[in-house]
Amino acid sequence: MKVLVSAASKHGATSEIAEEIGEALREALHKRGGDDVVVDVRPAEQVSSVEDYDAVVLGSAVYAGHWLQPAREVAERHVGSLAARPVWLFSSGPVGEPPKPAEEESVDVSGILEATGARDHRVFPGRLDKGALGFAEKAIVLALRVAEGDFRDWDAIRDWAREIAA
Ligand SMILES: Cc1cc2nc3c(=O)[nH]c(=O)nc-3n(C[C@H](O)[C@H](O)[C@H](O)COP(=O)(O)O)c2cc1C
Repeated sequence: MKVLVSAASKHGATSEIAEEIGEALREALHKRGGDDVVVDVRPAEQVSSVEDYDAVVLGSAVYAGHWLQPAREVAERHVGSLAARPVWLFSSGPVGEPPKPAEEESVDVSGILEATGARDHRVFPGRLDKGALGFAEKAIVLALRVAEGDFRDWDAIRDWAREIAA
């Protein structure tokens, strides 16, 4: 069985979530007796086809309520192939304690959910490092008083990967 985990990330936090999902999936699928399991983790920019995979996990960091373009492009370009396989979606964005924006206001992926027939969409908290932001991004987070820090919930991320494996 071959599984693709792919994500779009601007500052690296979401790429690390994709790596963690890949690692937890690999472990869980091997435990379930899948000796021939291959889990590839690739940036969305590097996905030219999903035809080789039996299942796909696709995600993105959220900026201004949307997925980044490389993740949207994977969903759009390969919509037929995705609709023909089991697909799971995730987004990473909300920051702070409690994370803001609230999950249901963080991102709208209803179009991608519908087109791909994805089985689930999860929103995970993200990471904001003001030092790594460009001028325009910094101005936005200062104006909106967005909290800085790493709010990624590794237990929730690994639990979700195990659910997918099951
Ligand atoms: C300019 C800017 C806009 C953002 N807009 C949103 C948003 O609309 N919704 C959200 O949930 N998170 C938003 N975030 C938070 C990011 O999604 C979060 O920091 C994420 O973990 C970044 O992932 P990356 O390091 O993979 O790029 C925004 C962050 C910045 C800097």
